Amino acid sequence: MGIQITPSILNADFAKMGEEVARIPSADWVHVDVMDNHFVPNLTFGPTMVEALARATDTPLDAHLMIEDADRNAPVYAEAGASSVTFHVEATKAPVRLARELRAQGARASMALKPATPIEPYEDMLPELDMLLLMTVEPGFGGQKFLDLVVPKIRRARAMLDKHGIETWLQVDGGVSLETIERCAEAGADVFVAGSAVYSADDPDAMVEALRSAAAGAAGHS
Ligand code: DX5
Ligand code: ZN
Repeated sequence: MGIQITPSILNADFAKMGEEVARIPSADWVHVDVMDNHFVPNLTFGPTMVEALARATDTPLDAHLMIEDADRNAPVYAEAGASSVTFHVEATKAPVRLARELRAQGARASMALKPATPIEPYEDMLPELDMLLLMTVEPGFGGQKFLDLVVPKIRRARAMLDKHGIETWLQVDGGVSLETIERCAEAGADVFVAGSAVYSADDPDAMVEALRSAAAGAAGHS
């Protein structure tokens, strides 16, 4: 599939989401951060926003659910129009069943791990996932500093995926910028969320392209 850039609208202007999404035509996906003020100490929006965004853009939506009780709540986001739905393993009782349910709904099924959650217990279920998200900050807020301690986990996840010969994408999210994207790409990530780096740039779409070429260059050297 190659390198993909998924700007997070968490750092966009919430009063004009349609316009904000139109500023990033080069994005492969729009990353939609759903927070419930329980799983993380921040509150954003719910399925109604996903429905509105799906009407406002042709770019597919990558919903990142930072919400409790994902088993019950995640399928609602596939129904609302998200093409990819990411649940947190820490908020799920039955991740295999949930991934299968999301796929049956026609969405891509994706699972996220917080920085301190190990990947090894989930090795056998990787084929159930279309994407694995490794958080490179503690989830909850945009604009945080990239956690370098996650880089070895990115490397281990890439090795596992290659060992099993599966096509699951490997996404990183949190503190990804021109300064940090290369080390993620070198370690084996191929899908990159960037919030503040994109929306604080004078030209957000040019930043999407700059991030893409930095990642592609680094991936080529790995
Ligand atoms: C953090 C969110 C991220 C965040 C990314 O909880 O999941 O998607 O918005 O923002 P930056 O790129 O600023 O870290
Ligand atoms: Zn996110």
